[in-house]
Amino acid sequence: MAGVLDGRIAIVTGSGRGLGRAMALGLAASGARVVVTDVDGDVVAESVEIIRGRCGRDAATGFTQDLTAPGAPESLVVRTIAELGGLHIVVNNAGIGPQAVEPDFLTKPPKLWEMPHGIWQQTYAVNAHLPFFMACAVMPRFIKQGWGRVINVTTSLDTMLRAGCGAYGSSKAANEAHTSILSQDVAGTGVTVNVLVPGGPANTRMIPAAAPIKREDLIQPDVMVVPLVWLASDAASSVNGRRFIGANWDTKIPPREAAEAAGAPIAWPQLAGSIWPGGNRQ
Ligand SMILES: NC(=O)c1ccc[n+]([C@@H]2O[C@H](COP(=O)([O-])OP(=O)(O)OC[C@H]3O[C@@H](n4cnc5c(N)ncnc54)[C@H](O)[C@@H]3O)[C@@H](O)[C@H]2O)c1
Repeated sequence: MAGVLDGRIAIVTGSGRGLGRAMALGLAASGARVVVTDVDGDVVAESVEIIRGRCGRDAATGFTQDLTAPGAPESLVVRTIAELGGLHIVVNNAGIGPQAVEPDFLTKPPKLWEMPHGIWQQTYAVNAHLPFFMACAVMPRFIKQGWGRVINVTTSLDTMLRAGCGAYGSSKAANEAHTSILSQDVAGTGVTVNVLVPGGPANTRMIPAAAPIKREDLIQPDVMVVPLVWLASDAASSVNGRRFIGANWDTKIPPREAAEAAGAPIAWPQLAGSIWPGGNRQ
């Protein structure tokens, strides 16, 4: 059966588990060939097996690598193009969550200054720097081919500001700002850059068992799939610089209307308005 993403090739970072696995499977189910890449080899193999089981052998290729290693984003892109024959869609999903500092971060929020420096730096390396290095690797190629999709997974504004989420929240705020700037830089090139978030705590290991929330009350990873597939499709060619909340996407109405209801500009520009010389607000 033909899918809206037939012929497209996608990379989903951190797709060994969680939201990344759901999104990689969703892209493959819509016809894309997907590179599953993660630092943990066993979960890469699991995701690849699941996707191949549902979508066929060619649907998934697994690359295990620490994407924060020097040169890893560029070599991921080069290898994808060499082995799969192209690249059209990049989902920057890999992340290190607040549970890496304190599994019980919701009830025992660690102070900012208590965060181990190594975890702080690794959190920034994955959540903030990696999407930048991925942009450096893909943008010249996407702009040359006049088509490309970058979808960055940030987080909710309240998580960015939440006590106990010092490294996580602030690195995600950096990614949100970076994504806004990147979307302005690609305007008119045929490439689009958007943000997609679940909209609150989602049912992955990022919200550990210690959290005082029932798993079934969490947002389920599948809420990412329908908006992601639409954003990656030709139907969303003119959609750039927007942030979408998966949990607010109504699958019962036409995608354009769902996108309108679940979307807003990236990074809350309505809060902007600094005073420039001459009293002009920008
Ligand atoms: N779960 C939530 O409540 C929630 C809410 C908002 C946003 N998010 C975001 O969604 C994304 C996915 O998170 P998740 O909840 O599925 O968590 P997760 O921990 O299940 O998945 C993140 C994946 O990233 C991988 N990763 C980490 N460092 C890496 C590296 N150096 N190289 C390659 N892969 C690496 C991990 O191995 C893991 O498989 C993250 O960016 C997260 O910040 C999650």
